Amino acid sequence: GSAVTQDSSDSGSIVLSAFQQQKEVMLKNSYSDHFIGLNKYDTFIGEESVAAGERLELSDSPTWIIDPIDGTVNFVHRFPFVAISIAFAVNKQTEFGIVYSCVEDKLYCAQRGGGAFLNGEPLHASGQEDISRCLVVTEIGAERDDLALSTMTSNIFRLLKLPVHGVRALGTAAVDMCQVATGGADAYYHIGMHCWDIAASALIVQEAGGVVMDTDGSQFDMMSRKVIAASSSAVANRIAQVVQAFPCRRDDED
Ligand code: IPD
Repeated sequence: GSAVTQDSSDSGSIVLSAFQQQKEVMLKNSYSDHFIGLNKYDTFIGEESVAAGERLELSDSPTWIIDPIDGTVNFVHRFPFVAISIAFAVNKQTEFGIVYSCVEDKLYCAQRGGGAFLNGEPLHASGQEDISRCLVVTEIGAERDDLALSTMTSNIFRLLKLPVHGVRALGTAAVDMCQVATGGADAYYHIGMHCWDIAASALIVQEAGGVVMDTDGSQFDMMSRKVIAASSSAVANRIAQVVQAFPCRRDDED
């Protein structure tokens, strides 16, 4: 509700003022304090708590899935796409999601069954069904091993040869995916991101009329670290036929 929206906007100004400062950063670990302490009866999954060694498990309990800074490399370099992502799930189903793109001052939100909104205005995916008319967003990702790099680049190669209109990458999975909800992009796919990067934006895409699925064409699983978000099932399935995944551990794997 409005309290959560207010909280994310306050957190946004903290991130924005830090964003504007020059930084020398070796490790991402120091901006987590601002999201802790919401409700002691709920479970939390957050990038920083997992980095601190907590086991990651999505149970049926009410669960907050939080990334206080999505787009860390952008944040360090002051490349202007950085977001806070907050999702709330019950029985493993996301009930609402908020993505606040701090520099752009864009607040995306969705409630299950209640539609998706950008700064209060309803969002609608493009509905595009023809892959050759699609603008596709993806991410280069953080992996640098040969298999991940060659798979990632060959996926982009094969999409461009379909052809699609173009391929873009903003540097934050949460904001990338919200572009599908706005209709500004027709599809997004990514292998290697984590549940906290996309839990909120997956609901935002679905509530805007888009579809989300695994890159192998199966049902969306926020723990699988593979996602396609698209304007239509036709486009999502076409992308699933083209992209290949490199191995990466599930978020809930021991
Ligand atoms: C990362 C960003 C990036 C994506 C990575 C994510 P972080 O999240 O979303 O765009 O390529 O896979 O892990 O580390 O900045 O929160």
